[in-house]
Amino acid sequence: MRDDKRMSKKGKVTVLVGAQWGDEGKGKLIDILTENVDYVARFQGGNNAGHTVVIEQDKYVLHLIPSGILHAGKICVIGNGVVIDPKALIEEIEFLKEKGIDVEHRLKISEKAHVIFPYHRKLDELREVKQKGRIGTTKKGIGPCYADKVSRVGIRVADLFDKEYFKTRLEANIAEKNVILKNLYASEGFSVEEIFNEYLKYAEYFRKYVCDTITLLNNAIREGKSVLCEGAQGTYLDVDYGTYPFVTSSNATAGGACIGAGVGPSRIDEVLGVVKAYTTRVGEGPFPTMFNDELMEKIREKGAEFGSTTGRARRCGWFDAVLVRNAVIINGIDKVIITKLDVLDELATIKVCVSYRYKGEIYTTIPGIPGFLEQCEPMYEELSGWQRDTSKIQQYNDLPVNARKYVSRLRELIDTEIMIVSVGKSRKQTLICNIK
Ligand code: IMP
Repeated sequence: MRDDKRMSKKGKVTVLVGAQWGDEGKGKLIDILTENVDYVARFQGGNNAGHTVVIEQDKYVLHLIPSGILHAGKICVIGNGVVIDPKALIEEIEFLKEKGIDVEHRLKISEKAHVIFPYHRKLDELREVKQKGRIGTTKKGIGPCYADKVSRVGIRVADLFDKEYFKTRLEANIAEKNVILKNLYASEGFSVEEIFNEYLKYAEYFRKYVCDTITLLNNAIREGKSVLCEGAQGTYLDVDYGTYPFVTSSNATAGGACIGAGVGPSRIDEVLGVVKAYTTRVGEGPFPTMFNDELMEKIREKGAEFGSTTGRARRCGWFDAVLVRNAVIINGIDKVIITKLDVLDELATIKVCVSYRYKGEIYTTIPGIPGFLEQCEPMYEELSGWQRDTSKIQQYNDLPVNARKYVSRLRELIDTEIMIVSVGKSRKQTLICNIK
């Protein structure tokens, strides 16, 4: 049965996800992989993400539009699982148009994607400032928008085109949000008319991009076109599998592609996971392998570890093989891509976390015990560094022997094929290795 189904399907579907806390360098990989696909689809998150792509002298930071847009002829989809801040999306479209990129014929926006409103941003910000136990969000309104979606009061892209329906839903939402804003946060409320008129203008702007992306993608797959589903954030920011509650509000894991792009599980051929050669995290939440201050500063500077969306300094630490091995399992990752190996070039020794000790016991999985990751002690293995510049190397086998030993050890620990090692931002600094 399954074989029959597979035979009738012609186009290859690949899902690419981050296997740490986001910022793994997915933007560069998506850009490279896009050369061989017809469609690229975002399936979750919103403009909390920031995918950076460097092409020759130009740097592009994309928050909502798949980085595939930088490749002529590729169709880019913002799937139903994404939350869209119209203002941010318009800015991105206009920026790309100014750069001479054809967005109009190639960007498709799901009619079922939920829309972010100013009250979402406001609530996100106030919760961060006024509530105890802040998450360290990007304050882009992501959490409150997804909360409305799940509470069944959200407003979707298609709703904006039905004035009456849109107004009724907006009125109900604003009535509720204003009570919370005024009474709980002593903040000003919002006016229905103002937002209604503003968003009707956005709807007109988006009209030509909006369609049934689910049918579009599934027809494309049937016709033999290949699709790359690009995840934003990373496995440990996933609302189910991440370090809850310090997570984002969507499913950043591979299963999220089925929900957020409308591509069924049996259609997915391959899952790729991206990891940094070390670990970073932005925002609050536990981070067992975090560096001491001195090393943190050194690696942060060398790796330019500052958020591409908020500019916040990222915390940095050793590679955590427990996290990545579990990410491989959760996502069903077939192949791993290691980025930023060059950032470790100067270190004399490099540590890798292989297990955690918690209350006298050794763990190689991450239990749901509250405070586990905050309190556990990472158990390290130490490897010798290579202390040579790797950023100009063009072939995997030309890497210093200790760098190759490091990659091989990571391969053993996470028990998955390593497909690519990246040693810099540009497309040229990409070493294909396929270590099985
Ligand atoms: P939110 O997604 O803005 O609600 O933020 C929730 C958590 O996810 C915070 O810790 C953010 O710093 C983190 N986060 C959200 N988007 C990204 C991203 O693209 N890269 C890294 N961290 C992110």
